[in-house]
Amino acid sequence: MKKIIINGDKKLKGRVSISGSKNESLAILCAALLSTDRVVLKNVPNIKDISVMKNLIENIGSKITSSDNIIIAPQIINHIIKSNNVGLIRNSILLLGPLIAKRKKAIIPVPGGCNIGSRPINLHLEGLKKLGVDIKVSNGLVSAQTKELRGAKIKLGFPSVGATESIMITATVAEGQTIIYNAARESEIQGLARFLNQMGADIKGMGTDTLVINGKKELSGTEYSVSPDRIETITYMILGSFPGNEIRVENTNKEDVCEVMQTLRDMCVSIENERTDIIVRGDKDLKSANIIAKPFPNFPTDAQALITPLLCSAKGESSITDNVFPERFTHIKELRKMGAHIILKGNKATIFGQYKLKGAKVICHDLRGGMALILAGLVAKGKTIIENKHYIDRGYENYIEKLQSLGTKINLFNHKL
Ligand code: UD1
Repeated sequence: MKKIIINGDKKLKGRVSISGSKNESLAILCAALLSTDRVVLKNVPNIKDISVMKNLIENIGSKITSSDNIIIAPQIINHIIKSNNVGLIRNSILLLGPLIAKRKKAIIPVPGGCNIGSRPINLHLEGLKKLGVDIKVSNGLVSAQTKELRGAKIKLGFPSVGATESIMITATVAEGQTIIYNAARESEIQGLARFLNQMGADIKGMGTDTLVINGKKELSGTEYSVSPDRIETITYMILGSFPGNEIRVENTNKEDVCEVMQTLRDMCVSIENERTDIIVRGDKDLKSANIIAKPFPNFPTDAQALITPLLCSAKGESSITDNVFPERFTHIKELRKMGAHIILKGNKATIFGQYKLKGAKVICHDLRGGMALILAGLVAKGKTIIENKHYIDRGYENYIEKLQSLGTKINLFNHKL
């Protein structure tokens, strides 16, 4: 398995073009199965999670052609998903709705996902039950069947992104009206709703916490361009925020990253917006910050690991509390190997600033935590070696090339060092 090698402590300058959103693409690939004819998707990132999802979709009988665009000829021949790949991506649970809608029954393994703590699917299953699906979970398999999908009023106990997507996808073809209260508002939900509406669905309330869906008999084909990845945008914004760096983050949506932008500005990072570009300069000493990760539009849980190395460089004491995934802190022990001074108590990390990070051998345990180690390696003095890069490959398109174009000394090595 290849490792990442970084010779850090270089000032970085340049421009990075943001790829299509991983999470929006995954949801849309599943939703495309509801269409009666072909769907063309543009700007889908070429990353591991997307390959896994494409395999799953092919395994159930659909044809996918991938070049610059992805063309899906949706067909569901098998209602049973056997692939071991299901364990690799969390969003495979979104296939349940289309399988039920088209075949009235489905058997799918309970999905896995990143190593970021417990990831139950109760809200997905409770929502689908309200839409008229009988569901049993045993021996690691979800078995579901329905006579007829029918609209319902569903109040989520937590604004779960995945559960909102599951219910929204399924409700578009249920008989009658569905209302989802306390729905997630993340930009990928809005993207998914735009896509479904383009296929002929009737979803209202996008961007609010109440979604109203009037079910349709069937949905038709469309051509859709996936939105820019907000977490990749944030990643390069944070990299541009280190003192001496300057990065122009191109082809993105500033509306999707408002809270992080405000946090960085409060830390004295200089940020300008020009149409679809965000220009980030770390030209002052950084101030500390106290961050609480909560559902959109608050500070995103996916960004809390990413901003940790920046807080290590800031003056004074900072804190990060994660109220979405309280155990999403496996990067902390790795950052400590690099000289970071961080105390973790429950879901709150206290970060003591201005401890100069130094290169070390570290291990990725999840996608965003893995990228946080890269960011730390890029500012650390000396050489950093990062193992388990496959976690990062799941969600970042061409990250080695993009980082190299900014002047980083980052490479892959096969052999033992
Ligand atoms: C998605 C994103 C992930 C992001 C997260 C929160 C994808 C592929 N992944 O994950 O990158 O970090 O949103 O923005 O889109 N929960 C339950 N029961 C459920 C579902 C969720 O208790 O049935 C809990 C989770 O354990 C977690 C919280 O709700 O504590 C939020 O999870 P959720 O928003 O569903 O995250 P995902 O959709 O899994």
